Amino acid sequence: MIDLARKALFALDPETAHHLAISGMSMYGQLPGSVRPGAGRSVRVFGREFANPVGLAAGLDKSAEAVLGFARLGFGFVEIGTVTPKAQPGNPKPRMFRLPEHDAIINRMGFNNDGADAVARRLARARPSLNGTIVGVNIGKNKVTPVENALQDYVSAMRTLYTHADYFVANLSSPNTPGLRSLQSVQELDRLCAALREVQNDMTAAGHPLVPFCIKVAPDLSDTDIDAISERLSDGIADGLVATNTTLERAPVAGHRHAEQAGGLSGAPVTGRALATVARFANRLPDSVPIIGVGGIGSVAQAQAMLDAGAVLVQIYTAFIYQGPKLVRQLVGAV
Ligand SMILES: Cc1cc2nc3c(=O)[nH]c(=O)nc-3n(C[C@H](O)[C@H](O)[C@H](O)COP(=O)(O)O)c2cc1C
Repeated sequence: MIDLARKALFALDPETAHHLAISGMSMYGQLPGSVRPGAGRSVRVFGREFANPVGLAAGLDKSAEAVLGFARLGFGFVEIGTVTPKAQPGNPKPRMFRLPEHDAIINRMGFNNDGADAVARRLARARPSLNGTIVGVNIGKNKVTPVENALQDYVSAMRTLYTHADYFVANLSSPNTPGLRSLQSVQELDRLCAALREVQNDMTAAGHPLVPFCIKVAPDLSDTDIDAISERLSDGIADGLVATNTTLERAPVAGHRHAEQAGGLSGAPVTGRALATVARFANRLPDSVPIIGVGGIGSVAQAQAMLDAGAVLVQIYTAFIYQGPKLVRQLVGAV
């Protein structure tokens, strides 16, 4: 039934399909009966029990409208966001392009989302019905905030959403918010992570349990960048790493009619880069810094390769769009 609906959605433009899918998933989450993660290999990460290691990557449910629906599909964890402190419309449309010949998507959504307050209210409503599905909250900066003030936005989003998240991800790697990727430089990273540590300290001092935070990086980092970031992460500046976001690279889709669209490329063309990035980080990071592997995972073998490279959890987005819920079932049952 969901698969039939999904096929019909491909006849529509990607953004209309996206909105219909989110509405459908939201309704699916409201159906009677309990919501729980699919039974699989459980893993303990960030001091939390993940019923299985397969998650939904950030960007599909940006404003937490359908957390229960995605949880019901069996994901062990659902990462919502990117959420910014204030609601914002994102970039002008069209801003999402399918490249089915490559099992790929190019997007330049630009963090369209309902803002941290609205998302906090939705997460509070969903929480009592979640029986063990972990919810990650991916945070970013508003477009109007100058990049030199970016950390105020991350701090503000983290504070507003602190009691609603099982873990946070500071998104430093979207190519669609000007200047954002510069936050991956070691100096900026140190400042940002120190500010997020302060939020954790304030909240734990106020009696709240510790909520860990990760940083999310691009697949376009050089080896030197990876080594520098690894060194800082090894010193404990953050609690984990999400690798990777979408790529600016276009060589794998050269000649496609959408290849020159601005934005981030995801799906099959990013599989190799994401895997290599995770492998390099994993060789440099201690076990105390867990890695969530994401980027071009579209099969059990690719998910397994990501885990073998050193990720402890995996996430999917683009292949889920193309293959639907059966991919979740396959992965949860196998990895
Ligand atoms: C349409 C679209 C929107 C996305 N939005 C976000 C976002 O808001 N925040 C984020 O951290 N990643 C975002 N991503 C990146 C995904 O979370 C993921 O890192 C990337 O697509 C690689 O995984 P995949 O090849 O399985 O899609 C988005 C990806 C797509 C395709």
